[in-house]
Amino acid sequence: MHPDLQKILLTQDQIRARVSEVAGQVDRALSGKRPLAIGILKGSIIFYADFIRCLTMPLELDFMAVSSYGSGSTSSGKLKIKKDLDTDIKGRDVIVIEDIIDSGFTLACLKKLLNERGAASVTIVTLLDKHERRTEDISPDYNCFEIPDEFVVGYGLDYNEEYRSLPYIGILKRSVYEK
Ligand code: PRP
Repeated sequence: MHPDLQKILLTQDQIRARVSEVAGQVDRALSGKRPLAIGILKGSIIFYADFIRCLTMPLELDFMAVSSYGSGSTSSGKLKIKKDLDTDIKGRDVIVIEDIIDSGFTLACLKKLLNERGAASVTIVTLLDKHERRTEDISPDYNCFEIPDEFVVGYGLDYNEEYRSLPYIGILKRSVYEK
């Protein structure tokens, strides 16, 4: 285990099994379609790569990078698009692939934007859900793990851009981010 971690929350085996289970559900639900899989950079990249390899339908890939500002409430918060899609999504079935849903602000804004752009359907898949932190009225269509309100890193998730390449998800020691 990385020395900056307090404990491992989800092992590689747990992640592998659950990602394949959830991807199987999405695969069945969107069978016969040709969806666009949208990865939200950067945290989702490892989940994205594992998830899409479990899907069996023809698939196109695209990415967005966004950051949120403001209070976290829909009325006063703002979503900044740092990298937009290359694809016109009008009439397309899209799968949004996120690493974590926290306040829900990012996904609420993204869902609205993708619907405004004319997506035929928007399916939201998240690896982790910190449900107790939610302030927006949004739920993912598919969630791999509900987790407690702890600072988690690994499998794509970072603290100050570190720890993203750890193959498991761990809880960071308080001393690392409180110093
Ligand atoms: C994280 C995550 C979501 C957002 C969730 O991204 O990937 O996009 O925060 O938070 P919310 O539900 O409160 O809106 P982050 O800004 O950490 O960027 P990163 O993926 O590049 O690490």
